[in-house]
Formats: sequence, C-alpha cells, structure tokens
Amino acid sequence: MEEYYWDTKMEYLKTTRDLYYNDDYLEFLVKYVWRLSQPVHIIDFGCGYGYLGLKLLPLLPTGSKYTGIDKGQQLINQGRELFHNLKYEAELFVADLYEIDIERKYDIAVCHAFLLHMSDPKRMLQKMIDSVVNEGKIICFEPHWISNMSSYYVNRYEQTHIIKLGILQKLFEDDGKQNGKDGNIGAKIPLYLTELGVENIECRISDKVNFLNPNMDQIDKQKLYFSLKEEGLGEEPANKEAFIEGLKNRGVTSKDAQAQYEAELLFSQVFNIDSSLVYAPSMKVTFGEIKNCNQS
Ligand SMILES: C[S@@+](CC[C@H](N)C(=O)[O-])C[C@H]1O[C@@H](n2cnc3c(N)ncnc32)[C@H](O)[C@@H]1O
Repeated sequence: MEEYYWDTKMEYLKTTRDLYYNDDYLEFLVKYVWRLSQPVHIIDFGCGYGYLGLKLLPLLPTGSKYTGIDKGQQLINQGRELFHNLKYEAELFVADLYEIDIERKYDIAVCHAFLLHMSDPKRMLQKMIDSVVNEGKIICFEPHWISNMSSYYVNRYEQTHIIKLGILQKLFEDDGKQNGKDGNIGAKIPLYLTELGVENIECRISDKVNFLNPNMDQIDKQKLYFSLKEEGLGEEPANKEAFIEGLKNRGVTSKDAQAQYEAELLFSQVFNIDSSLVYAPSMKVTFGEIKNCNQS
C-alpha cells in the first residue's frame, strides 16, 4: 500500500518549524497576549508529530492537557514516543478530521500549517469552533505564501532576479481557486472567523527572521542551512521542459514560465552553505474567542 504522504515528511516537519518562531515569542503570546493563567485543555487539528504540543505545554500553566489528532499513523507514533518521557498530559490519535465527530469540551482549538491543505477550510474552521467550550479560544498558525516569498534576501542579489512575485501571486491565487487549498490562507482567516461568529479576533505575524551568514558558528550554520533546504529554499528546478510545460498548463505564459525557471535556477546556483541569506517565513497567527455557542 502507498505510504501516506505526510508520514513521509517527518524530516521536513522536524527541521523546518524552528524557522518560524522564537521560543520567547511563543512565551510572549501565551503569557501576555492570550493571558493563559489557568490550566487549559488544547486540541490540535492536524497535529503532525505534536509540534505545537511540545512547544506550548512547557509554557502553559501546570495541569494543562494536549490532545493531538492527525491522519498520519507514523506521525502519531513518533509524537507518542516524543511525549512518552515528558511530564505532560498528552494524548495523540489517528483520525481523519473530516470524518470524526469531536466533542465540545476543549478550552482551545489550535492548528499549525493545517488549513492550507484543506479543500474546504471554512468547514474545518467550523469544526474547530464546535470543539471549543463557551468562552474558549481558537488559534490558527497558518502561512501567507506571498508575504513569505517577498521576505527573502540572498547574497546581495536584487530580489527580482531570484523571486518573481507577480507570477507567484497569480499561481497561488489560481491554485487556491482550483482545488480550494490556499497557501495564502493565513491572511484570510481573520475574515473567515468573523463570518463564523468568532469574537475579539486578532492577528499577529510570526516573529522569526532567519539569518544565515558565513561568520556563524559552524554547527548553527549547518543546522540552519539544512532547515532552509528542507523548507525548499534554493531547490533546483527539475527538467526545464517539464517545468515550463507544467507552468503553462497552470495558465502562465511561455515568457513568464521561462523567467520563473531562470529565477529558480539562479537561486539554486547562488544559494549554498556559505551564502548570506535573510528569510522570514511570515506566518499569520489568528485567534479569537468563541462566545454564546450552543452547548451540545
Ligand atoms: C503541514 S502538516 C502540519 C503538521 C503539524 N501541525 C506541524 O506544523 O508540524 C499538515 C498535517 O495535516 C494533516 N492532515 C491533513 N488532512 C488531514 C485530515 N483530513 N485529518 C487529519 N489530519 C490531516 C497531515 O497528516 C499533516 O500532518
């Protein structure tokens, strides 16, 4: 049987999350923005190996609990192993979140890089809302690809030579329209949550700006370079004809497809472990309160 895609992406998930947030920023959100001073029970939609649980539980009041749900059996196995020797109360389950009913009993529903993979993200947001008790919270950490793509600077190159924002903007928008899966969803969640009746909505941006530079400590440099490569930075474009044909099939003109190929090729050629590179993933962190919901 074919392996489930996300079960094959453990290395990617494990090495890229640290590119997004500094630990002090997560602590700031927990203590000063969300003001979580009483124990809470959190449910993590599409938890992977439990990244958010591992990050948030140490910051939350003692007695807090974490429930993670994901479709990937290997990811859940890995998560269970990671939590096994920790002092936190955590449970991880394999399930398809579209298929299962979730009891309304959690104080906070969270997700990280999950809704962008949903063909019907608003339906999933409703499910998250429905899992939360009255006066509870929903918190979504999701990407906004186009602001991510505009947040690169590498080796003194003009950004226009490396990243073609116009083409990418169109591709991201068209892809979102075609299959509902939207890499720009981070910037839309505030609006979606308002439409779904969530109150006191706010949106923040991830704080981390990664700086790879030749003068770094060698081990830190290797770790950061490896994470950036896993994130897809400077990935060599595959076969030229197939690459261009693929873009043309997605509505890009020949000229733009050629320019995109050259930009990606140049990026792959100039980016190496001794590059200077500044990269900010620019995730959006949207949160709000569930009030006056029908208690089921
Ligand atoms: C990009 S990964 C993010 C994982 C984790 N939140 C993190 O940031 O490390 C997206 C996750 O959503 C999960 N997922 C996608 N569709 C799902 C579904 N219908 N039910 C449960 N999990 C799902 C995948 O298995 C995958 O682990």
